[in-house]
Amino acid sequence: MDPISAPHFIIFPFMSRGHTIPLLYLGRLLRQRSVAVTIITTAGNSPCIRDSLRDTDIKIVELPFPKEINGVPPGVESTDKLPSMACFLPFANSTKLMQQDFEDTIQTLEQSATCIISDIIFGWTQKSAAKFGIPRLVFSGMGIFSTTMYQILYKNRPHAGTVSLDTPFLIPDFPKLKLTRNDFEPPFCEIEPTGEFADFMVEQSIALEKSDGLIVNGFYELESIYVDYWNQKFGPKAWCVGPLRVAKPQRTAAVEKPLHMQWLDGKFAEGEPVLYVSFGTQAKLSSEQLNEIAMGLENSQASCLWVLRSEGVKYLPGFEKKVKKRVMIVKEWVDQMEILNHKAVKGFLSHCGWNSVMESLTANVPILAFPMMAEQHLNARLLVEETGVGLRILPSNGSVRGFVETKEVEKMVKELMGGEKGKALRQKVEEIREAAFAATVDGGSSWQSLNFLIDDVCGKRFSQIYSLLTKKEELLARPLGQDILEINSK
Ligand SMILES: *[C@@H]1O[C@H](CO)[C@@H](O)[C@H](O)[C@H]1NC(C)=O
Ligand SMILES: *[C@@H]1O[C@H](CO)[C@@H](O)[C@H](O)[C@H]1NC(C)=O
Repeated sequence: MDPISAPHFIIFPFMSRGHTIPLLYLGRLLRQRSVAVTIITTAGNSPCIRDSLRDTDIKIVELPFPKEINGVPPGVESTDKLPSMACFLPFANSTKLMQQDFEDTIQTLEQSATCIISDIIFGWTQKSAAKFGIPRLVFSGMGIFSTTMYQILYKNRPHAGTVSLDTPFLIPDFPKLKLTRNDFEPPFCEIEPTGEFADFMVEQSIALEKSDGLIVNGFYELESIYVDYWNQKFGPKAWCVGPLRVAKPQRTAAVEKPLHMQWLDGKFAEGEPVLYVSFGTQAKLSSEQLNEIAMGLENSQASCLWVLRSEGVKYLPGFEKKVKKRVMIVKEWVDQMEILNHKAVKGFLSHCGWNSVMESLTANVPILAFPMMAEQHLNARLLVEETGVGLRILPSNGSVRGFVETKEVEKMVKELMGGEKGKALRQKVEEIREAAFAATVDGGSSWQSLNFLIDDVCGKRFSQIYSLLTKKEELLARPLGQDILEINSK
């Protein structure tokens, strides 16, 4: 391929772990197809990105993060380090101040950009892309089911006549589907959402509509009717190119296995199935709620590996000691993919963040859904009601949002880990895992989708060029999905 016309994709991930990791993986997939890739980030985020891409020739360009922003503590350049979600809007909005630096960077690149892939939060990059006549593709980190439901709510307002947050309403064109306003995050659960956050998100949504494509970390077979619907009714075109996962963890022999992995080995040797418990990094649970969960886990008699921040552990005095035979609490950051792929892990009590969902499904682990924020309630509906790969823990007041009691946690954990329903789920999740795997190998839907996406933005038949490439064997030496196969040969 002529190096001058060779495609060059600019990837600009939002500064949060969950939004960045899948895009770094996408960068790798593009590199495998001979596409040059440059990642744009801030100085505070680049060391971590550099480290995770050190085995590649992907370029990284740093932009300064805006200074002295009201509501953002100095030095914080990632949402993972924000003291509370109240800082999210000032943080996200402040990125608008990066526009000049971003545009200067785009103009001075050695190889001109073919395409900009930027996070949905960076709606302003659509204007920059348009200025230079470069297509912009959007990444939101969400699945297409939840994205579609938010769009239907915004455009068609099926909830307009509901009297309460818990009144079920039908979704036009999907007669089997019933949602409530509580499935949507405030302020979007309001009939007339108002306020700065609502305004900000509407801005991003308008920029999305003006953009040239939507990259989805998912695979067609999982959400096909919603992918088709989105492409027919809304757009821009959704490209399902996932699951976009972390590269396979590589531990050198010199580094000792973490204690929690050794503990899982022990449980596997005893023939004892383990429930992995993690609610992600953003949501904060009240002390009362954590105690109900802890008691539920204890009463269920299940073996659990619980990733809990130290402030969470403080809410549970004496718990760790009391249950130490069956429950291991981990306070530090863990490699979630590694845990989910351990042979002992047979269930995942999860907040249903989309990355966690993808990781659990590709690791063949059914989900016990405990959604908390963002689009997680819709993800839970997809998993439990639409796909049949999960069970759900529900609040006691009959809503999808609210306080969850001990007995519900206990009952559902028992059901997932031992009950009849658990068995059916395991079979379904196996099917889904196989579909996910098939999507990412040569000729699969996600594999092809990425080739067609490159065709689409390059305005030429990349997939034909690709099939003629002399170095194709080299590119195919490590087919996409190969590591899924390796990990899952359990
Ligand atoms: C968002 O940023 C713009 C540009 O810096 C500013 O004019 C606006 O007031 C900010 N809005 C909010 C809600 O912070
Ligand atoms: C249950 O509690 C949640 C959270 O407080 C609330 O949003 C919901 O409307 C309540 N539902 C009912 C039926 O009381």
